[in-house]
Amino acid sequence: MRGLRQLARRLLSNVPENTVYGGPKPQSPSQRVTLANLRQKHARGEPISMVTAYDYPSAVHVDQAGIDICLVGDSAAMVVHGHDTTLPVTLDLMLSHCQAVARGATRPLLVGDLPFGSYESSSNQAVDSAVRVLKEGGMDAIKLEGGAPSRISAAGAIVEAGIAVMGHVGLTPQAISVLGGFRPQGKNISSAVKVVETALALQEAGCFSVVLECVPAPVAAAATSALQIPTIGIGAGPFCSGQVLVYHDLLGMLQHPHHAKVTPKFCKQYARVGDVINKALLEYKQEVESKTFPGPSHTPYKITAKDVDGFLKELQRLGLNDAATAAAEAAENIESASKQSSGSG
Ligand code: KIV
Repeated sequence: MRGLRQLARRLLSNVPENTVYGGPKPQSPSQRVTLANLRQKHARGEPISMVTAYDYPSAVHVDQAGIDICLVGDSAAMVVHGHDTTLPVTLDLMLSHCQAVARGATRPLLVGDLPFGSYESSSNQAVDSAVRVLKEGGMDAIKLEGGAPSRISAAGAIVEAGIAVMGHVGLTPQAISVLGGFRPQGKNISSAVKVVETALALQEAGCFSVVLECVPAPVAAAATSALQIPTIGIGAGPFCSGQVLVYHDLLGMLQHPHHAKVTPKFCKQYARVGDVINKALLEYKQEVESKTFPGPSHTPYKITAKDVDGFLKELQRLGLNDAATAAAEAAENIESASKQSSGSG
């Protein structure tokens, strides 16, 4: 029965049997988290999880963990490209990140950040950029920062164009030039009121959710209570409808000196993946240098003894005697290393 199933799978597969790498995976669009799913979750009072991803492997991890929303954040500028701020990342660069993430994450709702410079000039510019994020980047929705009247209009115009928008208030890293640094917001009465009013204006414009970044917990609680749409907090305490963290921050991939310096206080590290990576790379380097890698188990492609003989003769006929000697020695070495390792295993 199992043999029959395997045969059927093989006959249906588009991947040749004698292949080194996998190949296209079946897509399952029906499993995608939708805005309706998020609304239901929010209505049931269940917290929404969101994590950033920037490339195919991080997207696959986020997908497999069952995270609700995957954000291709412009934090890519800092955590992937090593910039000090999010400002340098371009729309084209963001689209490339979005495409890789869309290939890796088939389940979470995919949100692409509109980067600095791609939506501030006019609502038309904002709509054009948002269209590219969906059409070329493969995202389901976009996120934009800020709550100035022009941003609210841009959000409304994008929603009108048929694109779901997530707002982002509090600390808006793209406004570093006017904020004078990555500064928490809502720490006095007028600033706190502004956070809530801006979030309400974004809801009015049609946003399906709003990120609250680096605001005191009571301010986040007030915004969450005032809004009908879910709030997603980062550095905003526990009273939000959901939480978001940056992939590298939560995994402890902070070995970059600049990143280690600026990792925010609110970020909980759930692992020290950076240490694991460093250890693995060091071990690899040592094994390459001591010639213990690749051993027999990582030297999979075989040539029969008969074909080795024929090969050696051909090399000699071509006048490549040193190459023939090298091939003969390699065949002997591999043979005895294989025998040793199968004897010791
Ligand atoms: O770009 C980003 O990663 C973000 C999150 C911090 C919300 O905007």
